[in-house]
Amino acid sequence: MEDEKKLAEFQTRLKNGESIEPKDWMPERYRKQLVRMISQHAHSEIVGMLPEGNWITRAPNLRRKMALLAKVQDEAGHGLYLYSAAETLGVDRESMINDLLSGKAKYSSIFNYPTLTWADIGVIGWLVDGAAIVNQTMLAKSSYGPYSRANLRICREENFHKKQGYEIVATLANGTDAQRKMIQESVNRWWWPSLMMFGPTDKDSPNSAELTKWKVKIHSNDDLRQRFVDLTVPQAKAVNITFPDPDLKFNEETGHWEFGEIDWNEFYRVIKGYGPMNRERMNARKKAHEDGRWVREAAEAYAKKKKVLHEN
Ligand code: 3HC
Repeated sequence: MEDEKKLAEFQTRLKNGESIEPKDWMPERYRKQLVRMISQHAHSEIVGMLPEGNWITRAPNLRRKMALLAKVQDEAGHGLYLYSAAETLGVDRESMINDLLSGKAKYSSIFNYPTLTWADIGVIGWLVDGAAIVNQTMLAKSSYGPYSRANLRICREENFHKKQGYEIVATLANGTDAQRKMIQESVNRWWWPSLMMFGPTDKDSPNSAELTKWKVKIHSNDDLRQRFVDLTVPQAKAVNITFPDPDLKFNEETGHWEFGEIDWNEFYRVIKGYGPMNRERMNARKKAHEDGRWVREAAEAYAKKKKVLHEN
């Protein structure tokens, strides 16, 4: 009876657009769904540093190198905001990281593709960060306060990332024949995986109904994917880039760009661990975790010593 009353109050708060804060009562399913989603999001930011980090030493000039270094560092910061937001729900960071390293927790499918050329750095900024912004602008309005505030900060920085990416794309698109070829080839490889970032179609998305009910998601996977396509096609046209989809066409009646069928077999293969780079990404994360062990231990020992000194 008590819980039913609390649940009714919780739902009224959501209906009134109130933000739910860590110490507020919340249904167990709401807490669990948020932990799953926020920790996966955090893992994506951290694993997402790997494909781009791979190009820091090979950036074509100092300006590009500085921007890429700052971007990769920002992604680490996003991971930290998100792990902290998840911790407010009563999970500790170590267990979340263990779930990532053991393969129990997911991270975004997109980071299981290789970065083969410098053009990929531009295309990731434009398409991957662009898709993340569409998704996370919605999440900045989600019902859980710490998650929505983390996304607000993340989106501000992702906007900068997208601009640096599009600037690289525009530069290469206006460059030599070889540069144009390189950028188009990169777009051809990243277009479909970028559309997959939004998750399965609404009818195949097991979590959407619950997340929408709790106002964590405000728009569906398909609606956000469509918004991304509508925003991106004119940007591609502006730099004479094409997308590898013969079915892409504008529908005058709906005002939307229609697109072809996504290869969902590929999506499920990648999220089950069989994408082109899954194994390399996890091995690199495990190595980084082991290499950083002494830093964590030293920081913990320092914090402990400081506490003892403070108490005396
Ligand atoms: N990659 C990996 N797994 C995915 C996925 C993707 N692109 N899309 C969906 N999935 C998984 C879900 O996690 C879920 O698995 P689980 O139940 O075992 O956890 C399953 O596929 C079914 O999908 P659902 O649609 O039911 O899942 P959700 O309702 O949670 O929606 C989501 C999926 C849209 C990714 C949503 O979780 C979300 O918005 N997450 C937060 C944002 C996020 O994680 N973004 C990562 C993008 S990368 C990034 O931000 C880094 C930046 O630097 C670019």
